[in-house]
Amino acid sequence: MIVLGLEGTAWNLSCALVDEEDVIAERSATYVPAKGGIHPREAAQHHAEHMAGVVKAVLDVARKDDLTIEAVAFSQGPGLGPCLRTVATAARALSLRFNVPLIGVNHCIAHIEVGKWKTGATDPVVLYVSGGNSQVLALRRGRYRIFGETLDISVGNALDKFARQVGLSHPGGPKVEKLAKSSKEYIPLPYVVKGMDFSFSGLSTAAAQAAKKHDLADVCHSFQETAFAMLVEVSERALAHAEKKEVLLVGGVGANSRLREMLNIMCEERGAKFYVPEKKFMGDNGSMIAYTGLVMMKCGVTTPLAESRVRPGYRTDEVVVTWQ
Ligand code: ATP
Ligand code: FE2
Repeated sequence: MIVLGLEGTAWNLSCALVDEEDVIAERSATYVPAKGGIHPREAAQHHAEHMAGVVKAVLDVARKDDLTIEAVAFSQGPGLGPCLRTVATAARALSLRFNVPLIGVNHCIAHIEVGKWKTGATDPVVLYVSGGNSQVLALRRGRYRIFGETLDISVGNALDKFARQVGLSHPGGPKVEKLAKSSKEYIPLPYVVKGMDFSFSGLSTAAAQAAKKHDLADVCHSFQETAFAMLVEVSERALAHAEKKEVLLVGGVGANSRLREMLNIMCEERGAKFYVPEKKFMGDNGSMIAYTGLVMMKCGVTTPLAESRVRPGYRTDEVVVTWQ
């Protein structure tokens, strides 16, 4: 089976073609704000301008290799409303054009499914950490249940905010990681875990304050140690509660080698297996939408046109997972 997927919930517009085995083609266009953070309408405008180009490039591959597209999947949410609407409109048009089913995919679930596909994890506790989301999830009775999540901003957003305040360019995560490597001292910062949830807003502010008095490398190191320990603590407890034997790390912050190292140590101590997909499958990409569409299609889940409205606040645990 071959499925075309369209992603464009935020900064990255991406179209891909996958089959059960692998990615056949993927083309992306990335919106880079002139200054500051992402502007929803400008990002949507960017996606509209590049839509024809990325889709055509992928369709050219399909035509050249004489491939038959059997469904069109698109990210239905969560994400920025104007971006989602641009992507959904293109997906509906493609589904009508090829006369194939439309499949609305939950973006967060797509991060998880592509992670499982590319690592071989079967039933993991998932730590999903990106610019928009921070959640600890596991499949239980047909849904990805959210065991813990952020009470305010995501860890990626906290890193980016802190970085901006201390004069590092966007995205902040990689720069903080690099600076942290030359640190010599840990500076105590607010560690906030409430039940199974965590909070990063206070940490971001306190770190920016600390940077006025302390060495920036030390603050970057302390930020990472504090934030990642919070994430590992909740992941560890979810592993015990859910009685799972695997941990899967997904989302852009998962590129961080210190976070990987800390999770790996926790998993070794608990006798669990730790999985991380290749970097290109960690950030937003069309392949994850196409692949999730494929597994949904294979168990008969499609989205009628009348139900294809975008869902900016689409929760992970709203989706009934029938394909596992
Ligand atoms: P989503 O829509 O799923 O929330 P996103 O649009 O935020 O995703 P991602 O690529 O998943 O996009 O994540 C981007 C975030 O990852 C940014 O906050 C960035 O700072 C962070 N990041 C990237 N590389 C690193 C790194 N090496 N260490 C820490 N954070 C990183
Ligand atoms: Fe994402």
